Amino acid sequence: KKVVLAYSGGLDTSIIIPWLKENYGCEVIAVAANVGQADELDGLEEKALKTGASKLYIEDLQDEFVEDFIFPTLKAGAVYEGLYLLGTSFARPVIAKRLVEIAKAEGADAICHGCTGKGNDQVRFELTIKAFAPTMPIIAPWRIWDIKSRDEEIDYAEAHNVPLKINRETNYSKDKNLWHLSHEGLDLEDPANEPKYNEILEMGVSPEQAPDVPTYVTIHFEKGVPTAVNGVSMKGADLVKELNKLGGANGVGLADIVENRLVGMKSRGVYETPGGTILYRAHDVLETLCLDKATQHYKQQIALKFADIVYDGQWYTPLREALSAFVDKTQETVTGDVKLKLYKGNIINAGVTSPYSLYSEEIATFGEDDVYDQNDSAGFINLFGLPIKVKALLDEKKLK
Ligand code: ARG
Ligand code: SIN
Repeated sequence: KKVVLAYSGGLDTSIIIPWLKENYGCEVIAVAANVGQADELDGLEEKALKTGASKLYIEDLQDEFVEDFIFPTLKAGAVYEGLYLLGTSFARPVIAKRLVEIAKAEGADAICHGCTGKGNDQVRFELTIKAFAPTMPIIAPWRIWDIKSRDEEIDYAEAHNVPLKINRETNYSKDKNLWHLSHEGLDLEDPANEPKYNEILEMGVSPEQAPDVPTYVTIHFEKGVPTAVNGVSMKGADLVKELNKLGGANGVGLADIVENRLVGMKSRGVYETPGGTILYRAHDVLETLCLDKATQHYKQQIALKFADIVYDGQWYTPLREALSAFVDKTQETVTGDVKLKLYKGNIINAGVTSPYSLYSEEIATFGEDDVYDQNDSAGFINLFGLPIKVKALLDEKKLK
């Protein structure tokens, strides 16, 4: 028997290897997805094999993650509950899809993941597995084993010779990729506590520690997709990483929210998304020029639904695909350059241009013009205000 395990090298997925072998007598194929978490991948192969895996795949999914998941979500303008840029949410389907491919190639009997039974990630992994391997058995140890706490995990690891490098810092529940870093747990579980930013931040600094001089950045978009930073063309993954540096150094992109999990509970998370926050702002600014009012407003409704879909792990569904088709149509003219000023946690608009701009200085000017007849407004307001006038007349009559 063979089981394919989603493996990160952290405590949870490390002890799952001996646990699977002990409980299922199976061979364990570990799969580590590189979604841009960089340092976490060092020494992983040695560790996986030492812990008992028979093989480790390290899959570089960075380009697919950015082009096929992050940018479509950016184009949609999807933000969960006003603040969360979905960094963990859309990393799950890209990883799960590859797990299925490997499981099929290996002829595996099941896929295993290390998500707890209390979170969103289990749902996201399993919905994607169902989409590509509808009858594949799924093993979720957290939902079935007796281990109840981190201390018990450490005991289990020590009893099974799993190499550990535990330090205080790794005690937050973190999820890292090239788009974001999330922090949950410990003191953050009480929403009354201010996050200890100076201790937890990894992708940048807090606004207070950012330099006193601003950084200007110009981003070029083609049909809603960012393609260049400060005049230098780069592929998506490099572009996001470049903006992470600029944003992180200026204290940009911190979010602290109590969010509603799919499984019903509220949970508190702190997110670092420096480059992503810059891209969302830049894309919004460009759309203010390039979209007509009706499309722009309708798209805001779509963005809310799109965010729920991504958060809830429903990436591979007909509705998500249909909404993406709508979004892509709206992006045909979202091409241009946005200049932003990054300063102590702020992102300040510093100028936008587009060959498709619908903005007409000639029409909007407070000066004299000959394209807009101000006399037209009187009749317009009479009709636009007709329901208000009729209601007021009726109210007057009732008072008498
Ligand atoms: N609460 C966020 C979400 O549901 C982040 C989850 C982080 N996941 C983790 N395994 N640490 O998307
Ligand atoms: C987990 O429970 O595995 C992490 C948190 C989440 O999935 O929301």
